[in-house]
Amino acid sequence: MNKPVIAGNWKMNMTPEETTGFFATFCSAWSADPSRTVCFFPPALSFEAARQALRDRPDILLGVQNIHWEAAGAFTGEVSARMAAGAGARLVLVGHSERRHVFGETDIETGRKVAAAAAAGLVPVLCVGETLAERRGDALEAVLTRQLQAGLEPSGEALPGPGLVLAYEPVWAIGTGVTATPEDASAAHRLLRRELDARYGRAASDVPILYGGSVNPENAAALLAAPGVDGLLVGGASLKPDAFARIASARPD
Ligand code: PGA
Repeated sequence: MNKPVIAGNWKMNMTPEETTGFFATFCSAWSADPSRTVCFFPPALSFEAARQALRDRPDILLGVQNIHWEAAGAFTGEVSARMAAGAGARLVLVGHSERRHVFGETDIETGRKVAAAAAAGLVPVLCVGETLAERRGDALEAVLTRQLQAGLEPSGEALPGPGLVLAYEPVWAIGTGVTATPEDASAAHRLLRRELDARYGRAASDVPILYGGSVNPENAAALLAAPGVDGLLVGGASLKPDAFARIASARPD
């Protein structure tokens, strides 16, 4: 398995100026560590400030939070995968729970976005996760399987593009301060790994599955130690350079 991926999703936070300030602090708190992959997803308008701030830090990768699946055209307010790649993005979040539940993004759209990202040379980070009602209704497996299949279907039989990352983010754990237990995370990751294996066979063994949902410096080590957890996708705590540096350097217990 690859080294752990520690990713920060800034959501709609951080102006360009704040981005510059963030990285001034983060880059002194965090030195390149060959045993970790660290990446950030700033908002589109702060992306260039992040890229500039990280000119001398090729160890830190950048991605965008969303793309449209079309390459160009009359889609006011959207950005394409090609634009993101041209701006220096290496990855893109697809199907984040806020896209699905606040903006009504459908399974079909996530599939189109994964395929468009891969075609443009971006690594899609396909996010999946169940709501509390779905978990209580015993629908965990059905929801994760459906979201995964729909997200990957349009890309065909081969693994999409330059790589694929999955993120398991239970909706009830995002921004709530309630974290899945390491056991819950492991169980969901096992399910996703089984689906990936069934779909791609050994080719999928390098696809990292990240956990996301109220990760903080205190729980990061235990989550990273959970079997099947290959990294962390961090929202709120990624806005604080020191907290995120502590998460990035957390070692499995
Ligand atoms: P959170 O967000 O860490 O603030 O719960 C995680 C995410 O949305 O990726």
